Amino acid sequence: MIVAVDGPAAAGKGTVARAIARHFGYHFLDTGSLYRMVGLAVLRGGNDPNDRAAAIAAAQSLRPETFRDEDLRGEDIGNAASIVAVIAEVRAALLDFQRKFAGKPPGAVLDGRDIGTVVCPDAEVKLYITASPEVRARRRMAELAERGDAVPYETVLAEIRARDERDRNRVTAPLVAAADAAVIDTSAMGIEEAVAAAVATVMKRRAPNPAKG
Ligand code: CDP
Repeated sequence: MIVAVDGPAAAGKGTVARAIARHFGYHFLDTGSLYRMVGLAVLRGGNDPNDRAAAIAAAQSLRPETFRDEDLRGEDIGNAASIVAVIAEVRAALLDFQRKFAGKPPGAVLDGRDIGTVVCPDAEVKLYITASPEVRARRRMAELAERGDAVPYETVLAEIRARDERDRNRVTAPLVAAADAAVIDTSAMGIEEAVAAAVATVMKRRAPNPAKG
């Protein structure tokens, strides 16, 4: 059982995907963290994320188990991630790890940008979680503030828009809802409402085996 959860930055897909995994007892992978690891590895090596050779080398030698999640969350790392994510060879290097993870029994939830379209096009359930750029900027701002990063709203909004632009317009695996994805706009929803909507959709799509509850 594979649940693909895609969507733009700060739409709430991580929260929703984690909650689905917990609800159904499935494994969970935040695929954005893999791109963040590549971004961080490049920065730590003293290189520019736009340096293709450095980014490809980092992706090909990536050992996800050596990173701590708290080192990956900064906006600078998110931006570096979205820059290296444009490079086809970087994406290719991360594909195998993601597909193996997706095959874990009894099921896996993967959140990202291209899970339903490229990584797991045969996923049984595909969700596309979105929200307006303004709402996403407020959420990201609150998230950053919680970590002690006070970033002005206008700055966060500009970064969200720049990231959307880069993610949607890249040639390889651009951010787009899969044709068979259920789209959930969380602009006017709280976390609980968004999670409930997502769980209900998974239940419905997970049929025809209603016995699995
Ligand atoms: O947390 P947020 O939604 O801001 O970002 P993320 O999910 O951690 O992903 C960071 C960046 O990695 C995104 O802006 C994408 O460019 C890239 N990414 C991707 O290209 N494909 C994925 N499956 C996941 C992330």
